[in-house]
Amino acid sequence: MNYQASDIIIFGGAGDLSLRKLLPAIYRIYSEGSLNADSSSVLLSCRDDEEAAGLMPEIEKHLKLNLAPGEFSQTLWEQFSQSIQAVVLNIAEHNEQWSLLAEHLNRNPDRVRVFYMAIPPAIYGACCENLSTEGLISANTRLVVEKPIGYDTESAIAINNKMAEFFSEEQLYRIDHYLGKETVQNLLALRFNNLLFEQLWDAKSIDHVQISISEMVGLEKRASFYDGAGAMRDMVQNHLLQLLCLIAMEPPHKLSANSIRQEKLKVLESLRPMSRGDVLANTVRGQYVAGEVAGELKSGYLEELGKPSSTTETFVAIRAHIDNWRWSKVPFYLRTGKRMNKRSAEIVVQFKDVSHRLYPGEAGALQANKLVIRLQPDESMQLVLMAKNLQKLETELQPVTLNLNFADEHKEFRSDAYKRLLLDVVGGNPSLFIHRDEVEQAWNWCDPIIDAWQNSPRQPHLYRSGSWGPEGSDQLLAEQGHQWFNLAEIDKANT
Ligand code: BG6
Repeated sequence: MNYQASDIIIFGGAGDLSLRKLLPAIYRIYSEGSLNADSSSVLLSCRDDEEAAGLMPEIEKHLKLNLAPGEFSQTLWEQFSQSIQAVVLNIAEHNEQWSLLAEHLNRNPDRVRVFYMAIPPAIYGACCENLSTEGLISANTRLVVEKPIGYDTESAIAINNKMAEFFSEEQLYRIDHYLGKETVQNLLALRFNNLLFEQLWDAKSIDHVQISISEMVGLEKRASFYDGAGAMRDMVQNHLLQLLCLIAMEPPHKLSANSIRQEKLKVLESLRPMSRGDVLANTVRGQYVAGEVAGELKSGYLEELGKPSSTTETFVAIRAHIDNWRWSKVPFYLRTGKRMNKRSAEIVVQFKDVSHRLYPGEAGALQANKLVIRLQPDESMQLVLMAKNLQKLETELQPVTLNLNFADEHKEFRSDAYKRLLLDVVGGNPSLFIHRDEVEQAWNWCDPIIDAWQNSPRQPHLYRSGSWGPEGSDQLLAEQGHQWFNLAEIDKANT
């Protein structure tokens, strides 16, 4: 598919996000021919001449590192690099550098303009003002902003208000790259196109839901951001709550951005608020100490941070409830952590047991059905059912896995959430982006949890790097007879 001619301007063009995620995604878009050098350009803001001078070799290095093996082509890079330009810019200050940017963009006033804020939210406002002063905001302009938007409800409202002075809500694309993952799209397709699931998708049939994102990495190069944020602001307020919305929302009446957003918002509004006492009973926050991850010894959080103390959480587990008819009394367990045992992201929908056991005990233990939706490390969906072992004459029941794994059949397919979302921005499709009401409502639910932690004398539970998090997280589920379905264990069960 060909998209309208466009200029993509990345503020923070030489930063980590731009080099590791955005430029590889744009390279893929070029390689597929959806945009080309004759009709599009990519402008990357740099802090000074030195950064600008070293940019091209840096991009080439990062493309080689971040694209899949064999995906980088020298010929294509030479063509692609023709459309990239570095622009030295002090983003927060208005000076003549901005006029040079304006001059470049005004050469093609009809092109779609995508301004991508790969910069700290504290300078979004100044950047918007400078764009406006230079007359760079046209009807064809879109602004993309990264999560987390703000620090709490109040700061999110302030940022949203500031952006609204210059951009209409329709021009704002608040990105959550988890929504661009193909399996997340497939989850919606599965839920809303199969009677089988939709009929069973409620408290009558579902026992509980687990949404878990575990990472093996630690602080990477983001210590100062991360220590001020923690896992709740970095992951739960956005990625985990968005996934929860997609699992729990009612069917939208059509596939428009507004209908989907309205349904997600209703879920966020139905999340049961937590008092301080509830927070202590329903959440576990943790911080990693030294340990072995994939055979390598890693330091603890404080050593990595280089500080003697910090109560920032690198792990969170929460038992949440959605107070509406569909989900009454169904626990939604959310978990995320850094320096965990495996890199994985998955949603497990655990169905209830059958109401009456018909087969005798000798036929084997019964396992309730579950749907496992895996976003990482590979993308797949598996439905676990009970069936008879066909190799035995006598009835022996065993769990079997129905593989709904589309990646197995399309080996050439490469999922890239940023590519998909960037194309949606260029094409003007906001369905997979977040409305300001969702951002603010999500903070509204998270704020009291963060506040209770900060005002509690309890320190974060410590967990060993390379483990599945603190023991308290297992206890949280055990209180209701549940346990985490850790990736490795599911794989073991399936072999
Ligand atoms: C980002 C967080 O939004 O998501 C990071 O800021 C985290 O801390 C990353 O590492 C995880 O993304 P993915 O797609 O690698 O799971």
